[in-house]
This record gives sequence, structure tokens and C-alpha cells, in this order.
Amino acid sequence: MEASARTFLVVCVLCAATLRTGFGLHTVNAVYGETIIIPCGHETIDDLLFASWKYDAHDGTSQFLASRSAVKNKTTYGDALEYKNRVEVSENYTLFIANAVINDERRFVCMRVTADNVFEDPAVVRVFKPASKPEILEQPKIMETGKINRVGVCVAKDSYPDGNITWYRNGKILLPIDGAVIIDWNKENNSSSGLYSMQSSLHYMATKEDIRAIFSCTVTFFMPNGQVSAVSDTASFDIYYPTEKVTIQIQPSKKYIKEGDNITLQCRGNGNPPPQEFLYYLPGQEEGIVSSSAYHITDIKRNATGDYKCSLSDKNMMASTTVTVHYLDLALTPSGEVTKQIGDTFSVLCVPFASKNVSVMFMKDSKILTALPFKNLQYRDSGVYECLANLEEEGLKSRKTLKLTVEGKPRLKLSKTPSSDGKTKTISYEVEGFPKPEVSCSSTGNLVHLNKTDETVISNIRYSAKIIISPEENTTVICVAENKLGKEVRTLNVSAISIPERDEQNDSSDDSSDHAKLIVGIVVGLLLAALVAGVAYCIYIRKSSPGTKHVGKELGNTEENKKLEENNHKSEA
Ligand SMILES: *[C@@H]1O[C@H](CO)[C@@H](O)[C@H](O)[C@H]1NC(C)=O
Ligand SMILES: *[C@@H]1O[C@H](CO)[C@@H](O)[C@H](O)[C@H]1NC(C)=O
Ligand SMILES: *[C@@H]1O[C@H](CO)[C@@H](O)[C@H](O)[C@H]1NC(C)=O
Ligand SMILES: *[C@@H]1O[C@H](CO)[C@@H](O)[C@H](O)[C@H]1NC(C)=O
Ligand SMILES: *[C@@H]1O[C@H](CO)[C@@H](O)[C@H](O)[C@H]1NC(C)=O
Ligand SMILES: *[C@@H]1O[C@H](CO)[C@@H](O)[C@H](O)[C@H]1NC(C)=O
Ligand SMILES: *[C@@H]1O[C@H](CO)[C@@H](O)[C@H](O)[C@H]1NC(C)=O
Ligand SMILES: *[C@@H]1O[C@H](CO)[C@@H](O)[C@H](O)[C@H]1NC(C)=O
Ligand SMILES: *[C@@H]1O[C@H](CO)[C@@H](O)[C@H](O)[C@H]1NC(C)=O
Ligand SMILES: *[C@@H]1O[C@H](CO)[C@@H](O)[C@H](O)[C@H]1NC(C)=O
Ligand SMILES: *[C@@H]1O[C@H](CO)[C@@H](O)[C@H](O)[C@H]1NC(C)=O
Ligand SMILES: *[C@@H]1O[C@H](CO)[C@@H](O)[C@H](O)[C@H]1NC(C)=O
Repeated sequence: MEASARTFLVVCVLCAATLRTGFGLHTVNAVYGETIIIPCGHETIDDLLFASWKYDAHDGTSQFLASRSAVKNKTTYGDALEYKNRVEVSENYTLFIANAVINDERRFVCMRVTADNVFEDPAVVRVFKPASKPEILEQPKIMETGKINRVGVCVAKDSYPDGNITWYRNGKILLPIDGAVIIDWNKENNSSSGLYSMQSSLHYMATKEDIRAIFSCTVTFFMPNGQVSAVSDTASFDIYYPTEKVTIQIQPSKKYIKEGDNITLQCRGNGNPPPQEFLYYLPGQEEGIVSSSAYHITDIKRNATGDYKCSLSDKNMMASTTVTVHYLDLALTPSGEVTKQIGDTFSVLCVPFASKNVSVMFMKDSKILTALPFKNLQYRDSGVYECLANLEEEGLKSRKTLKLTVEGKPRLKLSKTPSSDGKTKTISYEVEGFPKPEVSCSSTGNLVHLNKTDETVISNIRYSAKIIISPEENTTVICVAENKLGKEVRTLNVSAISIPERDEQNDSSDDSSDHAKLIVGIVVGLLLAALVAGVAYCIYIRKSSPGTKHVGKELGNTEENKKLEENNHKSEA
């Protein structure tokens, strides 16, 4: 019995020691609005008559709260207004004060009275009130770099005792830094409730690092079991920063631009918000053109080649790009329809004007020609000639055509065809020439009737026909072939029907003198052709100087083309 009492005493002393303040006072912690429980001392006392609770009023006096008689098993309450209906004393004399307020922070004394002694046990009440969840108010939507921006005001309300507000950026504490982090805080004391409201405003020098940065604040306050924190919702901002670089782009972003394309120059700045207005400078122009987004060029021409620049509307930060407009033209001389005579020399010049070196190619009837120009033109050289050039990468193709017609004087051949019936004799002729020669035949001796068949077309320049005659006597058939370039006469001796035709010489140039004339004619023709060719060559040399040598494979170099263009402009002007 005694041992257990002693043990109880030791335990009580230990627990009292833990609660005892430095001044030998018990401290009772309570949460605002909840019930304060103050035990009446920590040692049990036997033979208690009654216990009485008092408190220290603000004016320093001691006020009666309640007393409980052990004998009567009854509590009587004082008339202190602020504790009316809030206090209760339990059977073991523990004092309960409901609905704790800050004013309850005072000293309470439990006085126990026995028949021969009085014990006083004071206790100090501490009231704690957690702060409201902090809120960041007055947040701006954006922050600008290089400036002190207001981040907001962190407000935490109604705490007791007062708490501290701390700002965080990306979870790391923000401490004041001269000219970069400015924190102003203050707290307000509500004199009626005694509660504190804390607020802290943050001003912050934003940088581009703050893009997507998260700001928050916490309030730290004391509760009975120590420090407690409450965290605000996070705040984030659109960070505005100036453009540091402008870029210019060409759209569509294909490798080569050719004449006729539509292009768009797009200037961009890397700031936030991106700049809305730019100045576009065209090649060789000092003054920029204001445009809010892009600059469009439709149907671009070769003279649009050059450096395009753009800057911000305040002429800051220049970006430039080179635009090369590719083009390909061909100058074919002669062109269109060309008429030449057989045996003539024919030269043709195809010069490319292009933004790049390009070679030209001649084609006739889908076949590539290797040799040009022609000496000694033949009928087979007639046709459509194409000069082609191709800049494959740039997607440029050019084609010029000429139609060559080779004309020639008639060439006539007469021959006898052995006939079997014995009543007629057949003579054939074959004529060659362009334009198509007219052939007319007659015979010496009027009695002979010439029956001429329709002409057979052998090729577009060669025709044949048969002449059937029934000569009563020996005769000479004379045929004349004629077109606008000249005529040729041929004769053939045919013996009478009665005399069977010897298997003699077929053709019959009628006489040698005519033949000689023919030869002279050809020579003169050739001389004329050479003269024409010479003139053509001279013209060609003058046109293509300097440095071009071959007509068929003309290489245009850009410099040359420029010169030619200049010449063209000069001649236009
Ligand atoms: C005191 O009174 C209450 C009722 O008011 C009763 O429940 C309790 O048992 C009594 N205690 C003693 C020790 O008589
Ligand atoms: C006194 O009684 C209350 C309940 O009425 C109880 O919670 C408390 O622990 C008791 N205190 C002591 C010291 O026995
Ligand atoms: C707060 O108000 C209470 C009651 O008016 C007063 O006792 C206390 O000193 C005040 N505290 C501050 C920090 O103003
Ligand atoms: C002080 O607190 C009381 C009651 O808690 C409240 O009605 C009053 O608005 C508060 N005053 C201020 C200035 O916050
Ligand atoms: C508030 O800050 C002061 C000074 O830094 C410190 O002494 C106090 O304990 C802090 N209070 C809380 C609730 O953290
Ligand atoms: C360029 O734009 C015009 C209309 O602005 C359009 O008619 C033309 O076809 C476009 N040219 C090309 C090559 O897309
Ligand atoms: C470019 O050439 C076109 C004709 O092809 C002309 O209309 C335009 O004015 C020229 N532009 C410049 C800048 O010379
Ligand atoms: C000419 O010859 C054809 C057949 O070759 C014949 O039909 C026609 O009658 C002849 N004409 C004359 C006038 O002899
Ligand atoms: C054709 O006949 C004439 C006379 O009619 C004659 O002079 C001439 O030599 C003859 N020609 C040939 C090739 O036999
Ligand atoms: C007709 O020609 C033949 C040879 O072809 C000749 O033998 C004959 O004498 C000639 N007749 C006349 C009348 O000249
Ligand atoms: C004459 O011409 C015919 C047909 O053109 C031919 O069949 C014959 O062989 C030729 N005769 C001579 C001698 O050339
Ligand atoms: C174009 O041709 C010229 C000479 O004709 C030559 O000097 C130049 O290097 C060539 N350029 C290219 C890109 O081939």
C-alpha cells in the first residue's frame, strides 16, 4: 500500500517536472475555440474540504471563478462575465473552459483547502490559433524581365501568436537580395479578437529563368506541439522578355526560287510576346517597309535577286537573307519558220540566259543532235528543231523551236519501161524538188497523144508518173519540171511502135550543154550559200563575243548574261 503510494508520488513528480515552467508554474496549452483543461494540481490531497478556482484579471486583481465543496459534492460559480457559461469544474476539481479565446491567456490558480492546510497550484494558459491558409493576392498576369515586378502579396490571417511568412521560388526559399528580391512584411493585430494577420509582399527582378518558375508562400506559426506551416497555392507568370535576335525566313522553304514563284519573307523576333511589327528592306533600299507579319512577293522576277533584310520596327536588330531568283531563257536565232535551199549552209545560235551555267541541246524528231550547224543542207534536214535547256534542280525548263524548210530546184529523170503489149510504149519520170515541181511533157510530132497517169508520191519531195504513148513514128518526148526555184528539161528518144525498143540507155540527158548549165547553176548556188553562211557567221561572232565558240553548245555564264541584260536594258531605255 505504502509502496504503491510512493510509486504514484514519483510518477506524479516526474510528470509535474515535465509540465512545470521555469518559475514552477504549470503551462497549459490550448487551441483557440476548443476547451481549456486545467488540472487542479498534480498531487492528490486527502481530506479535502473544498477547492476554489481564481484567475488574474487584466487589472492585476485576482478574481473568483468557481469553487467546489468536496463535502457537498457541489460547484458554485462566480459572476465573472467573460466566463459565464464557459467554465465547469469536474469532480476531481479539473477546470474546463470552453471556447478558448486569446483573453484566456492568463494565470489560473487552484486553491485546495483541508482542515489544516491550504495548497495553491497556479497554471498559465497559452492559447494557439492556426493561421488561415495563405493566399497570394494581387498577382499580375505577366512579369517583365529586367524589371522589379510585383509578384503578389501573401496574406495569412488570424493566427495566434503571430506567424512568419516565407516566399519560395521553385521550392527554394527566397531571401531579400538588394535590387533583386524585395520582401516587405507586416502584421496586424485585431484589437477585438487579439488575432494577428500577416502579410508579405514580394517584389522580384524577373529573368528569362523565371519562365515556368513557380512561386509560393508559406506561413509558419506555433501550435501546442511546435511549429506548423501552411502552404499557399502556387503562382506562375507569363514572362515577358525583349527580343534579342530577329531572324528572317523565306517560305516556302525550298532550296531554289524561280521566276514566277510566290514567296513570303517572314521575320521573327525571339521575345515574348513576339514582336508584331517589322521593317522589311528590299534589295538596295534604305527605307524599310512596315509590315505586321510577313512580306509577300508574288510572281517574283529575276531582278528581285538580292539581299533582303528585316529589323524590328525601331530599326534594331537586323537580319538578312539572300534570295536568288533562278531563271532560264533561250534566245534562238533564227527562229520561227526558216526556208533554205538545198546545199546551203545553215547556222543556228541558241544562247541561254540563265541564273546558272547551263548547256543547251538541240533535238529534232525526239533525237538529240550532235552536229550543228549544217553545211550542204539536204531535204532530209527539213523539220522542227528544238533548242532545250534544263536546270533540273531549280525546276526550270526552256524550249525554243524553229521550223526549217529546205527547198530545191526540180531534178527530173526519164526512163523507158519495157512494155509487152506492142501497142503502147511506157515512159516513167521521177521528179524531186521542193516545193513540189509541176511536170509537163510533150512530144515532137503532134500526132502523138501522151496519156499521163496520176503522180505517185514516193516521198514528200519525190514523185513519179508514167506516160503511155503510141507513136506512129520515131519521136522525142520532152518533159519539163518546174517550181519557183527553177526548171529542168529532159528528153527521151522513143522509136515508133513498130520498132521494138532496144534495151538501150534509159535516161537521157538531152544534151551535154544543158548538163553543163546545170553544173554551173549548182556552183553559183554553192557560192551564194557560202556567202550567206559567212554573213551569218559574222553576225554570230558579233553577238556572242567574247569567248563563245560553239553554236551548238552554248554555255551562258552569269556575267555574260548580266552584260547582255544590261545591254538589253540600255537598248530599252
Ligand atoms: C456527486 O453528485 C453527482 C450527481 O450530481 C453524482 O453522480 C455523484 O456520484 C456524486 N458523488 C459523490 C462522491 O457523492
Ligand atoms: C479529472 O477528471 C477528468 C474527467 O472528469 C479526467 O479527464 C481527468 O484526467 C481527471 N484528472 C485527474 C488528475 O485525475
Ligand atoms: C494586440 O492587441 C492586444 C489587445 O488589444 C494587445 O494586448 C497587444 O499588445 C497587441 N499586440 C501588438 C503586437 O500590437
Ligand atoms: C477583428 O475581429 C473581429 C472578430 O473576430 C472581426 O469582427 C473584425 O472584423 C476584425 N477586425 C479587423 C480589422 O480585422
Ligand atoms: C518568425 O521569425 C522570427 C525571427 O526570424 C523568429 O524568431 C520566430 O521564431 C519566427 N516565428 C515562427 C512562427 O517561425
Ligand atoms: C501566286 O499567287 C497568285 C495569287 O496571288 C496565284 O494566282 C498564282 O497561281 C501563284 N503562283 C504560284 C506559282 O503559286
Ligand atoms: C523588275 O522587272 C519587272 C519587269 O520584269 C519590272 O516591272 C520591275 O519594276 C522591276 N523591278 C525592279 C526593282 O527593277
Ligand atoms: C490512157 O490510159 C488509160 C490506162 O492506162 C486508159 O484507161 C485511157 O483510156 C487512156 N486514154 C487515152 C486517151 O488513150
Ligand atoms: C535523138 O534523136 C535525134 C533526132 O531526132 C538525134 O539527133 C539524137 O542524137 C538522138 N539522141 C539519142 C540519145 O539517141
Ligand atoms: C527510127 O529509129 C530506129 C532506131 O531506134 C531507126 O533504126 C530507124 O531508122 C528510125 N526511123 C526513122 C524514119 O528515122
Ligand atoms: C531502164 O529503166 C528501167 C526502169 O526504170 C529499168 O528496169 C531498166 O533496167 C533500165 N535500163 C537501163 C539500160 O538502164
Ligand atoms: C560557269 O562558266 C564559267 C565559264 O563559262 C566558269 O568560269 C564558271 O566557273 C562556271 N560556273 C560554274 C558554277 O560552273
